[in-house]
Amino acid sequence: MARIDRRTLLAMGAGAAAAMTMPGQMKAQPAGLIRKPIPSSGETIPVVGLGTARRYESVTADADKAPLRETVKRFSELGGSVIDSSPTYGTAEEVVGEIVDGLGIRDRIFLATKVSIAGREAGVAQIEQSFKRLRTTKIDLIAVHNLRDTDVHLKTLRDLKAAGRIRYIGITTSFENQYEAFEAVMKRETLDFIQVDYALDNRNAGDRILPLAKERGMAVMINLPFGRGRLFNAVQGRQLPDWAAEFDCKSWAQFFLKYIVSHEAVTCAAPGMAKAEYATDNLGAAQGRLPDAALRKRMESFIDAV
Ligand SMILES: NC(=O)c1ccc[n+]([C@@H]2O[C@H](COP(=O)([O-])OP(=O)(O)OC[C@H]3O[C@@H](n4cnc5c(N)ncnc54)[C@H](OP(=O)(O)O)[C@@H]3O)[C@@H](O)[C@H]2O)c1
Repeated sequence: MARIDRRTLLAMGAGAAAAMTMPGQMKAQPAGLIRKPIPSSGETIPVVGLGTARRYESVTADADKAPLRETVKRFSELGGSVIDSSPTYGTAEEVVGEIVDGLGIRDRIFLATKVSIAGREAGVAQIEQSFKRLRTTKIDLIAVHNLRDTDVHLKTLRDLKAAGRIRYIGITTSFENQYEAFEAVMKRETLDFIQVDYALDNRNAGDRILPLAKERGMAVMINLPFGRGRLFNAVQGRQLPDWAAEFDCKSWAQFFLKYIVSHEAVTCAAPGMAKAEYATDNLGAAQGRLPDAALRKRMESFIDAV
């Protein structure tokens, strides 16, 4: 393959760049979304996924499911794939299972969930419940939630992976006081994925966890990419800076997400979204150019000053 300089890669977008570096491993896909490879397999996934904490947690009435169905439908139609859930998110797994099954899009969705309970047998039972709730025979990724009984559950997850029932395994956290223990697991275990909190105004994982993930060949999913509502509140009433156009950014959500997914170690971000217009907006961050190192610095200075 001919060598390509960095400027050309940036202009092409990271998705196209990933495609060029992984010949023969790209599947047919809707045009335009930037994708990055999972290091352990080379399979690529779109850099923006969908998180299901909170807004999917207490949903029983059909009227409450309708906007979520529209969100997942729009997300999938636009080429979105990764949906992140957890057995601890109330009704979320059930709602996702029902919607994905009802829309007939299971083959287009990368389903990620977690195991989040103490004890081997309780973990096995919780995982079996996830298969039922998600209405699937294969779960793409199960991660140990917040390091809860990590060693016990990683053994179970490895057995499930060997049996072909799950495709990837990992660990998650969203607490800085767990980073040290999290890094220790990353150093001693072979994992496909890690999931960690990282946002334009919460950059600590960028200095330690993300470089370690790159070194260890682990895919990175980012949780809390907007710090829940925190980043939107910080910029309330402000216009996007003119230079946001330099990386094809048309909204604050895209500003925050493009910052995250332009980190070289990040594979995807999973913003929580329960409105179809959010799906359109957020997947816009997986299109066009991404900020380079100089623009990323400028974004950091901008948010530090507001
Ligand atoms: N330890 C762990 O494993 C862990 C911990 C935390 C989270 N997570 C995962 O990470 C995901 C993301 O976290 P999160 O949902 O709590 O927080 P988040 O993604 O930082 O923020 C989500 C909120 O941002 C707002 N939003 C989303 N798209 C928007 C847009 N385009 N324009 C304006 N506002 C927008 C929505 O607020 P409104 O709904 O109020 O409009 C939404 O609820 C979770 O869903 C979960 O899957 C994992």
